[in-house]
Amino acid sequence: MSKTYRVAILGATGAVGTELLELLESRNFPISDLKLLASERSVGRSLSFKGENLLVEPISDRALENVDIVLASAGSSTSKKWATIAVEKGAVVIDNSSAFRMNPEVPLVVPEVNPQAAASHKGIIANPNCTTILMTVAVWPLHQVKSVQRIIAATYQSASGAGAKAMAEVKTQASAILQGQEPIAEILPYPLAFNLFPHNTPINDFGYCEEEMKMVNETRKIFGTQQIRITATCVRVPVLRAHSEAINLEFETPFSPETAREILSNSPGVKLVEDWQANHFPMPIEATGKDEVLVGRIRQDISHPCGLELWLCGDQIRKGAALNAVQIAELLVEKNLLKPAVAYVSQ
Ligand code: A2P
Repeated sequence: MSKTYRVAILGATGAVGTELLELLESRNFPISDLKLLASERSVGRSLSFKGENLLVEPISDRALENVDIVLASAGSSTSKKWATIAVEKGAVVIDNSSAFRMNPEVPLVVPEVNPQAAASHKGIIANPNCTTILMTVAVWPLHQVKSVQRIIAATYQSASGAGAKAMAEVKTQASAILQGQEPIAEILPYPLAFNLFPHNTPINDFGYCEEEMKMVNETRKIFGTQQIRITATCVRVPVLRAHSEAINLEFETPFSPETAREILSNSPGVKLVEDWQANHFPMPIEATGKDEVLVGRIRQDISHPCGLELWLCGDQIRKGAALNAVQIAELLVEKNLLKPAVAYVSQ
């Protein structure tokens, strides 16, 4: 009989948590026992898995016993508090938060890009930021052919990045506006319905917000080079759950759009969506619920001979978060990398 694993989802009631549950079921991950963990607020709730209703438990030391894999998506402070405890109890934690991503002892993994990094884990593997995952899946195959020198990204990020409550808030705001009422913003800082605003993460001394710096620093870590120059402008838009990105790439020598198109049409995790006649390119509504990153509008940058423009959309909750985490878990199982954790990691 093939091996099965004891899995816990920390943050099971959230936007990413419920998607993790769905993916574990639909991808038939080999599970012998599944624990659904969240905060005290969710006590009494149950969620369905393979036709069975499973009760949500509040996170505790005891709840983390007898678990092989923890898929954590309950925010950075919750991960900081519980991930090392889970590792001490023998689990491997795949963490969706930003808590450990830039820790040099923690691999930051996109399975289509740097699966080999997973092998060096000491109990925690970090799932990158959603915009970073989507961008790296599309840019890595090109970078394999000619080194990217510089990336200029502009993002159009959906409400789902701020969680299930933010998604609900946008719907409530939209319906308030349509009824002639003032939209109320409680989860996000400003009304997002019929609006957009620069990403609401803290801004550093150079004027870059945290989300933008995640794209810079995490991409370099995933690609294994500090040499790529990267800049980003991140914006929240009133889309529910798929992010879009306009990416400008600069190479050392020209990179023809035809070659890029051919490479990307054969790259794992990428689907080319380009109908120039119909002006049909990736859109968030078509990326929603899909596993692949949709890429299109590949064209020569007319302002630079070695520049290439592309446009992408990807489901933020799926490949931007839950799917990437489940793919990491599948990689660990397939490559037999769920070794007993060694004592962990400075924070
Ligand atoms: P709960 O529903 O009990 O608050 P989202 O990103 O969609 O907002 O979801 C966040 C997830 O993280 C939810 O499942 C939420 O559980 C969980 N969570 C938030 N704070 C904590 C905490 N302190 N301990 C455990 N789970 C938490």
